[in-house]
Amino acid sequence: MAKKNKAPKPGTIAYTADRHEYYEKAVQCVESEVDMVDETYEALRGKKARFLREDFCGTGNTSCEWVKRRKNNTAIGLDLDQEVLNWGIKNKISALNPEQQDRIDLINQDVMNAEVDPADVILAMNFSYQLFKTRDALRAYFAQAREGLKDDGIFFIDAYGGHESWRQIREKTKFDDFDYFWHQKRYNPITAEMLCHIHFRFKDKSWLHKAFTYDWRMWTLPELQELLVEAGFSKVQVYWEGTDEETGEGNGDYYPTDLGDDDPSWIVYIVCEK
Ligand SMILES: C[S@@+](CC[C@H](N)C(=O)[O-])C[C@H]1O[C@@H](n2cnc3c(N)ncnc32)[C@H](O)[C@@H]1O
Repeated sequence: MAKKNKAPKPGTIAYTADRHEYYEKAVQCVESEVDMVDETYEALRGKKARFLREDFCGTGNTSCEWVKRRKNNTAIGLDLDQEVLNWGIKNKISALNPEQQDRIDLINQDVMNAEVDPADVILAMNFSYQLFKTRDALRAYFAQAREGLKDDGIFFIDAYGGHESWRQIREKTKFDDFDYFWHQKRYNPITAEMLCHIHFRFKDKSWLHKAFTYDWRMWTLPELQELLVEAGFSKVQVYWEGTDEETGEGNGDYYPTDLGDDDPSWIVYIVCEK
C-alpha cells in the first residue's frame, strides 16, 4: 500500500491516468442500474418513465445511459462540482449522437435548491446522500427529492451495509489493467461517521492514491426507511439482491422484501413512492 500521499511521478501510468475513467470501470454499472429503475417503475406504474433527474450525478453516466434507452427519454443531472460536470460533458455527452444530446443536461446545482421540472424518477446513487450526517439534514434532502417528483413519481436510492461495512478495512479488486482499492480508513461508532478513499494501482506499481474521498455517515436501513417515511413518501420498500444458486453470490436481480440475510456485505435499493 502506498503509505505516503505522494503525487504520481512523471512517466508512470498513474501520472496520466484519468481518475474518472477508472472510477467508471471499477465502481459503476449504469446498464444494470437503469435496468432496475426502468423495470421497477414500469412494474409499479404500468407505464414507462420518461424524465429522469439524477442527483449527485458526477459525470452524468447514468443520465447518458437513460437517454440512450428510448427516443423520448430525457435526463437532467445535478452536481456541485464543475470539474466533474465538465469531464462528463467532454467525455460522455459528446459521445452521444446529436439527437440524444438534445435530451440531456448536466447542471451545476445544489440538490437542496434544485430548480428542475417535476420528474418521473429521481436517483441518488452510489450512497451520495450519506454526506448528510444528521437526521434533520437527510430528512430535508429526502423531502426536497419528494417535492421534485411528479405526483406518481418514484425516488430511488441505493444503500450498503453488513458487518464488513462498519470496519476499517482496505479491500482490493483486481481488474485487467489495474487494481481498485476501497479503503474504509476511519470509522467512529459513536457518530457512525466514516472516512473512505478510493485508490488505484497500475501495472507499473504506480498509485493514484486517494483518487476519491468520501466523508460521510453510515446510515442503517431502518434509519433510512424511517427518514424517508418522515419526509412524506407514501410507500418505502427495500429491494434485496437475489442469490446465484451456483456461486452463492448476488445475482444482480433485486426483489421487494422485508427480510434480508446476515450477509457480511450487501447492497440494496430503496424504492420510494411519492
Ligand atoms: C459519490 S459521487 C456520486 C457519483 C455518481 N452519482 C455515481 O453514481 O457514481 C457524489 C457527487 O455528489 C456531488 N455533490 C455533493 N454535494 C452535492 C450537493 N449538495 N448537490 C449536488 N451535488 C453534490 C459531488 O460533487 C460528487 O460529484
